[in-house]
Amino acid sequence: MHALVTGAAGFVGSHLAKRLRDDDHDVVGLDSFTDYYDVALKRANADGAVRAGVKFVEADLNEVDLRGVLDGVDVIFHLAGQPGVRSSWGDEFATYTRCNVEATQKLLEASRDSRSLRRLVFASSSSIYGDAERFPTSESDRPQPISPYGVTKLAAEHLCSLYASSFDIPTVSLRYFTVYGPGQRPDMAFTRFAQAAVRGSEITIFGSGEQVRDFTYVDDVVEANVLAATCDVTPGTVLNVAGGSYTSVNEVLDVFRELASTELTVTRVEAMAGDVRRTGGDTAAIRSVLGWRPVVGLREGIERQLKWAAESDLR
Ligand code: NAD
Ligand code: UGA
Repeated sequence: MHALVTGAAGFVGSHLAKRLRDDDHDVVGLDSFTDYYDVALKRANADGAVRAGVKFVEADLNEVDLRGVLDGVDVIFHLAGQPGVRSSWGDEFATYTRCNVEATQKLLEASRDSRSLRRLVFASSSSIYGDAERFPTSESDRPQPISPYGVTKLAAEHLCSLYASSFDIPTVSLRYFTVYGPGQRPDMAFTRFAQAAVRGSEITIFGSGEQVRDFTYVDDVVEANVLAATCDVTPGTVLNVAGGSYTSVNEVLDVFRELASTELTVTRVEAMAGDVRRTGGDTAAIRSVLGWRPVVGLREGIERQLKWAAESDLR
């Protein structure tokens, strides 16, 4: 495989790029190192990928001439984007439309000219469901995002399916459900909880803490990407990637307390606009189409993330 991973300096993209190198594929990683969170973390991710043999292109998808970048590429993993559900309101929305919608449309247009492309795997999101009508939620259930971020991910996903039906671009969209593990972004819950357990920092819980997430371990998400690139899939397909660990934030805090053998200082504030009450993904489709299933359970995944947080704290 000659792969392009967009967003390769980010949390999930850097894991994926390294896994592809482990499997001996040629990998180009592209990232613009946006300042949504500490750029030093992204530089470290990119350095790790380069050490693993990834060729790195520092470029903004919205600006770069993609013809050269796509030359010879047969699989695009499109993970570049502006993440974060709760910060997508107000003036920030312009960044979400630019990085999630416009960048995806530009990549899809450029893909039309490619002679080598045989798969484009897009990183979609459980946030497109909003407060879903039923659980577990399946791909055919009505998307009704409740955050501007979710609206942009749904628009990008629709663009992928549209370019598949109109121009035979071989897209697959994977709806990731709250990904965690070593390297998780610093704005996300588990990184904040792990830092609190290791350094004693304070945790802020948004709302009651009774909101439930179908947390998914990063290696399982990476595996879904690899399978989506290599299995026979109908262009335009959309699949949930969900860990099966329906757990409330309060229950997660208990696991952190127990595994770290420490008390945690918790402050509770109002629920945040855009935060869904619950996610839970039906994985029947991805099991059948890709033969994928989640392997790492929540407790084991949290243990690994805690270990990583403790080691990063020592450096
Ligand atoms: P991340 O922010 O760590 O990684 C995204 C990377 O994309 C960043 O390094 C950023 O610099 C880069 N980027 C953004 N805009 C770009 C542009 N215009 N050109 C080039 N690079 C650009 O986020 P992540 O948590 O690794 O998420 C990766 C993808 O998966 C995102 O598209 C996100 O929406 C999606 N997703 C993530 C989760 C999750 O729980 N982490 C869940 C569902 C979907
Ligand atoms: C995550 C990612 O951040 C999104 O990019 C992604 O699209 C989404 O998953 C998805 O599944 O589609 P989220 O579920 O909000 O979004 O993940 P976390 O940031 O880890 O938050 C999980 C829960 O913990 C949320 O209810 C949040 O309100 C809560 N939380 C988070 C806190 O109470 N305190 C914090 O400091 C952080």
